[in-house]
Amino acid sequence: MYKEIIIKDILEMKKFAQNIGKYVFPGFLLCLEGDLGAGKTTFTKFLGAEMGITDMINSPTFTILKVYEAKLPLFHMDVYRLSGIGMDYDLEEFIYGDGVCVVEWYQNIIESLPQEKLEIKMEIINETERLLKIEGVGKYEEIIEKINN
Ligand SMILES: Nc1ncnc2c1ncn2[C@@H]1O[C@H](COP(=O)(O)OP(=O)(O)OP(=O)(O)O)[C@@H](O)[C@H]1O
Ligand SMILES: [Mg+2]
Repeated sequence: MYKEIIIKDILEMKKFAQNIGKYVFPGFLLCLEGDLGAGKTTFTKFLGAEMGITDMINSPTFTILKVYEAKLPLFHMDVYRLSGIGMDYDLEEFIYGDGVCVVEWYQNIIESLPQEKLEIKMEIINETERLLKIEGVGKYEEIIEKINN
């Protein structure tokens, strides 16, 4: 299943993330790609808030992984720095874990990710607008069908 959505501003990004947040389940894998400043971390903050996380969610670029406790924990990864060196960390337990796993720059570890996942590619249209290219396999297909921003 594939869908494209245009996000007009940050408020619409928030609504989109809240929408996705309704469908998360243990083992949910959400993969984000897009240029610097496209909105990957911004989206993750909104998703985390929807999941009930009250802690400040920051970009995990220098730590690779941050874990936020909630009813469903959020595993927030940024694998930007793993480019070319593959899966050098024990990330599998989170990718295949019982929380919600969000991976920024997932193409860097694409060989280590399962087929079944939700992929969102964010393209910058202008300062506030984003084009989202959303793709889902398996149990993620019906989620994409339901999403209408
Ligand atoms: N519609 C929008 N959706 C998301 N962010 C937006 C939007 N409009 C403007 N922004 C701004 O764009 C920036 C996005 O930054 P963010 O850190 O989320 O990007 P990123 O994709 O995680 O970048 P990086 O690759 O550096 O991790 C923020 O400053 C945010 O306020
Ligand atoms: Mg980021």
